[in-house]
Amino acid sequence: MSDLETSSSAVQSHVPPHEAVDGGARAAVRALRASQIREVANAGFGVPDVLPFWFGESDRVTPPFIREAAADALGRGDTFYTHNLGIAPLREALARYVSDLHGATPVDHLAVTSAGVNALMLAAQLVVGAGDRAVAVTPLWPNLVEIPKILGASVETVALEYGERGWTLDLDRLLAALTPGTKLLMINSPNNPTGWVMTRDEQRAVLEHCRRHGIWIVADEVYERLYYGAAGERTAPSFLDIATRDERLICVNSFSKAWLMTGWRLGWMVVPRALTDDLGKLVEYNTSCAPSFVQQAGIAALERGETFTRELVADLRASRDHLAAALAKLPGVDVKVPHGAMYLFFRLAGAQHSLELCKALVRDVGLGLAPGSAFGPEGEGYVRWCYACDPARLDAGVARLARFLDATGAR
Ligand SMILES: Cc1ncc(COP(=O)(O)O)c(C=O)c1O
Repeated sequence: MSDLETSSSAVQSHVPPHEAVDGGARAAVRALRASQIREVANAGFGVPDVLPFWFGESDRVTPPFIREAAADALGRGDTFYTHNLGIAPLREALARYVSDLHGATPVDHLAVTSAGVNALMLAAQLVVGAGDRAVAVTPLWPNLVEIPKILGASVETVALEYGERGWTLDLDRLLAALTPGTKLLMINSPNNPTGWVMTRDEQRAVLEHCRRHGIWIVADEVYERLYYGAAGERTAPSFLDIATRDERLICVNSFSKAWLMTGWRLGWMVVPRALTDDLGKLVEYNTSCAPSFVQQAGIAALERGETFTRELVADLRASRDHLAAALAKLPGVDVKVPHGAMYLFFRLAGAQHSLELCKALVRDVGLGLAPGSAFGPEGEGYVRWCYACDPARLDAGVARLARFLDATGAR
C-alpha cells in the first residue's frame, strides 16, 4: 500500500460518512423531489412477472429503418463531436419538418438537443435564474416543475380540474397566476400524465397575456404527434401555429415519442433567433452536442418516418380506447378518454394514498402503475397507466387490477 493510500484511508476513518462533504449538495438540489415512480418500481424488485405500465415509453423497439441509419453511420465512422446546435443536415430536416407542421421555421431558429429533458433544462437556463418566478400547469411530469428550481427559481402551480369532460383548464386562474413580473410559464400539451390537450383558443389567450407582461413561454410539445383529433389532423394545437418565431416562446420537442426513440436521447428546440447563439454556448457547457450517429438516425426519422408515426398513432388510439373500455367496467374506477399523449390518468378507489396503493398493486398482483402524487399533490387520488403496448398485455393488467379491487373490496 502506498503512503498516499495509507494517509487517505486514515483521514476517511475519522470522518463519519454523512459529514464527509460539508452539508451535502446545494439546498435547492437537496429540496428536489425524488421520483415516486422509481419508488414504486423499487417496491417491485423481486416480484416475479410484474406487468410494467409505469414508465412513459412503448414496449416496442425503434423501427428498423432508424436503427439501420444509426448503424450505417457508425459503420462509416461517424463518431466525432458535432456543431453545438447539431449537424446541418439534421437542422435542415428539422426546419422542413417543423415548417410543414407549423409554418415557416428557418434553420437558425433550431437547435438539436440530447432529448426533450435536456431541451427543457436548456430552455430554463436561457431564461430563468435565482429568485425568478415561474408558473406551471399541473398535474405534470415532475421535470418541468423541478428544473426551474435547480436554477433557484420558485414555481407556482395551477391545477387542471377533473370533471365530466375529463381534465380541463380554468383559464382565468392560469391568467391570474401569470402576474406581471412572472418570468416563465412551463406548459405541456398534450399533457403527461393527464392526456389533456390545450385548445387553440386557450393558447391564444395565454400567448396574448404573456406578450402583454413579457412572460416567456416554454411549451413542451413532445407529445404533439400523439394526438387523437379529427381525421387528417397530424398534430395537436401548437404555440408555433399562432406565434411569430421571434417572440418569447421556446418550443421543446423530442424524437422519443413519435418514433419510439426514448433510449437514443435526441430532441430539438425552436427558439427566437436572438437566443440561438447563446443557446449554442449553453449546449457546449451541458453536453457539447448530441451523438453524431444518433443525429443521423434523427434525419431518417424525419425524412422517412411519417407513415410509421401515423400507424403508431392509430395503434395508440386503439389501445387507449381498448383500455378505457375495459377499465370503465371495473368498480371503483372513474376513467375519461383524453385526446392526447399515451396515458390514462384515472381516479381509483383507495388511491387517496396513491403511492401506497401503487406499491401494494405491484407487491400483491404484479401490476406496475404510476401514482398520481408523482405528478404533484393535485394528482393524489389518481393513477397513471401508460397504454403504449399490446392490447393483450393491457387485458392481463386489467385482470390483475380487477383481482386486486375484488380482494380489497374497493368500490
Ligand atoms: C412531458 C414530457 N416532456 C418531456 C419528456 C422528455 O422526454 P425525452 O427526454 O425522452 O425526450 C417527457 C418524457 O416522458 C415527458 O413526458
